[in-house]
Amino acid sequence: MDILIIGSGGREYSIGLALSKDQAVNKLYFAPGNGATDALGKNIDITDYQQLVGFAKQNSIDLTIVGPETPLVEGVVDIFQSDGLVIFGPGKAAARLEGSKVYMKNFLAKYSIPTAQYIQTSSAKEALSFIQTLKTPIVVKADGLCAGKGVIIAQSIDEANDAVVKMLSGESFGDAGSKVIIEEYLDGYELSMFAICDGKDFILLPAAQDHKRLKNNDEGPNTGGMGAYAPTPLAHDELYEKVKKRIIRPTLDGMNQEKAPFRGVLFIGIMVVENEPITLEFNVRFGDPECEVLMPLMKTPASELFYKAATGDLHNLHVEFEDKYAVGVVIASANYPYSTSIPAEIVVDKIVHKEIADNTHISYAGVKKEDDILYATGGRVLVCVGMGASIKEAKDRAYMLCGQVHFAGKKFRTDIAYQAL
Ligand code: AMP
Ligand code: GLY
Repeated sequence: MDILIIGSGGREYSIGLALSKDQAVNKLYFAPGNGATDALGKNIDITDYQQLVGFAKQNSIDLTIVGPETPLVEGVVDIFQSDGLVIFGPGKAAARLEGSKVYMKNFLAKYSIPTAQYIQTSSAKEALSFIQTLKTPIVVKADGLCAGKGVIIAQSIDEANDAVVKMLSGESFGDAGSKVIIEEYLDGYELSMFAICDGKDFILLPAAQDHKRLKNNDEGPNTGGMGAYAPTPLAHDELYEKVKKRIIRPTLDGMNQEKAPFRGVLFIGIMVVENEPITLEFNVRFGDPECEVLMPLMKTPASELFYKAATGDLHNLHVEFEDKYAVGVVIASANYPYSTSIPAEIVVDKIVHKEIADNTHISYAGVKKEDDILYATGGRVLVCVGMGASIKEAKDRAYMLCGQVHFAGKKFRTDIAYQAL
């Protein structure tokens, strides 16, 4: 099978890494990829969707996999499908589950799927009077895509009011803030669950936990995610069953009723409150860094899973996972998440200990290659992944790998997976 992966992050690298070890995969392409993906396949410098269709046809691509949300929300899947190409991801209509938080919340309410109480509005007056009725903290969300920055957890009524005014005026997020959601704050623990869907059926992957804050003990600003591990013991069989029955099944059925069948990755951000799973949000793609710990846990070839999901054939697939744990620690650049950092050369020491070498790997994200030297280009640079028979073993191995990776200004959390240990 010849496969094209759209995207350039650690998520796409980890999908490519799994596919590069997959017997069924022949050629692998990344559009545009990053400075390390060219070691797994070939990077192609095309971003225009119609030109990508041309590339896929000329090169007889059997399957295209879309990593990030922006091309999905912009409708890349519909463009490929209208040319008869097989592509894994939701169409534009279904991608609204991530593209518009108002659409998502109204969908959840319409199909009685558990979520936080909320109002949606584009009127500051209405928002401010609802805020008066809530206890702090108060959650304010911009409707559209904001690169993970559109959620404010306000600690006071004044802070919530201020967030609403800045969103609605366009000052914070431009058009993406022209509607807002105000919702109740849920107090519990957070999980990331991923269902691979084919429009009718789904396969639920082991639950993961992300670490969104920059610093240890979940302090500091929100980030895209500083580390993840899976499976998490915080999800047990009963919780998986509740998520399937109360969230995923009604979502797939509801999206069919909305004439927007969901194919692709349904990423459910869950808050577990008193043992009950409540939907915080949907995303329509893999989480990053969650993907980096889930891919190495797949025993079933990834090409088969994604191809069958893309062609509506999941009922013919029995998926198996490794009986192991994976822990991924993000190493970020000095100024992340505030501003860019100057490029810094990456040096990875040779790993002499066989047990570490065999049970760890790096997923590269914010990197470029010049004259065969890899440079950190800022943001989240790479993820050190450790595998093991226990979370502790996987974590220790991941951190040993962190010690082998060097670049100026590198920083990482030292407590990834703490909630499970
Ligand atoms: P989102 O972009 O919707 O995932 O929100 C970003 C983060 O804000 C989530 O991962 C949660 O940590 C937090 N969050 C969002 N909504 C709520 C809520 N209703 N109650 C508590 N925390 C929330
Ligand atoms: N790690 C969370 C996300 O990708 O949105």
